[in-house]
Amino acid sequence: MTILGIETSCDETSAAVLKTNKNDKRIQLLSNVIATSLSLHAKTGGIIPEIAAREQVKFIIPVIEESLKVLKNPKEEIDAIAVTVGPGLIGSLLVGVETARTIGFVWDKPIIPINHLFGHIYANFIGENNIQFPAIALVISGGHTDLVLMKNQSSIKWLGGTRDDAAGEAFDKTGRLLNLPYPAGPRIEKLAMDVEKDIYHFPRPMIGSGDFDFSFSGLKAAVFREVQKLKTPSDDDIKNISFSLQEAIFSVLIKKTFKAAKAFNAKSIILGGGVSANQTLRKRFEEKIKIENVETELFVPSKSLCTDNAVMIAAAAIFNPEETDWRKITANPELYFD
Ligand code: KG4
Ligand code: ZN
Repeated sequence: MTILGIETSCDETSAAVLKTNKNDKRIQLLSNVIATSLSLHAKTGGIIPEIAAREQVKFIIPVIEESLKVLKNPKEEIDAIAVTVGPGLIGSLLVGVETARTIGFVWDKPIIPINHLFGHIYANFIGENNIQFPAIALVISGGHTDLVLMKNQSSIKWLGGTRDDAAGEAFDKTGRLLNLPYPAGPRIEKLAMDVEKDIYHFPRPMIGSGDFDFSFSGLKAAVFREVQKLKTPSDDDIKNISFSLQEAIFSVLIKKTFKAAKAFNAKSIILGGGVSANQTLRKRFEEKIKIENVETELFVPSKSLCTDNAVMIAAAAIFNPEETDWRKITANPELYFD
């Protein structure tokens, strides 16, 4: 089966072609093209939906055209089109969804509607992997923080999630307080690297709660108070705040993920979403596995597949091949885990 994946939920416009073997579902990546309007949002401290949507319109056809160059006769070789239908920004989503519907109509191909959050999980299923089940997946992106249970490769059950800000949002909002460009996650990771001591010890919201939920909105208030006290934070202050922020966010993420892994006897822990690109977080998870002396194995996508891309959308379609007529496909910005 050969799938064209399309992802346009936010500021990335991406198309990818994946091929699978019928018997073992091993995925072969044929192409992966990404254009982004990120630089246009860097100065404004966040995504401006109108600008993101206009850029999607500009990029979508050239990106798809480029991704299909690996095929001799795309119209014959593509079996289905996988497209992100939500969650995301409605203007951005519509560009991908309407383009997929048009190709589906003209080429007479089925469309596979994909939940973007599922995509972040299936970014781990590309190439050789040995993911064993049950698995606990932690999706940590700019808009979401969710823990899910996977009993097998196609079953996803939501366990809990953030009640307010997402983990990535906590990075980005702190970045705004510290005058760092958007998105602040990668910059905060770098700034924190020189620091060894958690000077500020920001609160660890809900770390001891009996559920699998998170809350990160209090963190920005805590950082705000410190920034106000400092008036003009020095470079060292910014580094120390970055380190302490990471420590607070990571402590909660790790605690809750291991709590879920224990509760469901997970053989694998899967990370996905932009925040999982953070190398310190990956190291912390690995250390925790050693400390706990558990058999659980950690899976994290390659750095480029942690953030938004169409490869993960096509991969999700391979494990959830809900082929649908183009007439029945609609964008749903509020889509969540069922
Ligand atoms: O998954 P993603 O690309 O888009 C959404 O679906 O939201 O995630 C973007 C988020 C942003 O909040 C960004 O600051 C964060 O991921 N991020 C990071 C890192 N790289 C991206 N956070 C922490 N450390 C990183 N290295
Ligand atoms: Zn995402």
